[in-house]
Amino acid sequence: MTMLRFHQESIFARHLAILLIVSISAVVGQTSISSQSNSSIYEKLAKASKKDAARRNPLAADPDAVAAGGKLFALHCAECHGETADGGKKAPSLRVDEVQQATPGTLFWLLTNGVVRRGMPVWSKLPEPQRWQLVSFIKSLTPQPPPNATDAQTPHP
Ligand code: HEC
Repeated sequence: MTMLRFHQESIFARHLAILLIVSISAVVGQTSISSQSNSSIYEKLAKASKKDAARRNPLAADPDAVAAGGKLFALHCAECHGETADGGKKAPSLRVDEVQQATPGTLFWLLTNGVVRRGMPVWSKLPEPQRWQLVSFIKSLTPQPPPNATDAQTPHP
């Protein structure tokens, strides 16, 4: 009789343990999904060191840098960020404040390191001048019009 009770208790304990594991993994699963939510897009831009953020774009005064960067963008980036850099199916807009207010050094650092965990590739294989051209191009973009703008056809000043 005592044996039977002991046996039942151990089955109960095992069920409890399984239940616990199942509910813990459900919670863990949920957190990993919510960590991919929109709130943390662009978060990595804040992670550049002061030294990286302070780097100047050596091509800032180069009149051809923006056009060259635009070509590189069409070649490497548009498939994810959209032809006009205002966001595509795979990647967010680069016309938002978070990106436009980042320093050139920060953007260069981001291109060099990517946000691989979240689907933004590393671009260190592109020569440094090409990465700076891309920075020049991104910085040349006009800010995104608000989603309810009705004058989408009107060119920006
Ligand atoms: C395979 C798709 C893909 C390609 C190609 C790609 N990106 Fe991205 N990019 C992403 C994703 C996804 C994010 C959002 C990452 C995140 O959640 O922070 C991103 C984010 C960014 C950001 C914002 C930084 C941030 O923290 O989110 C910049 C700037 C950027 N990309 C520039 C570029 C440039 C320039 C190129 C071309 C050289 C490029 N990307 C090519 C997918 C891509």
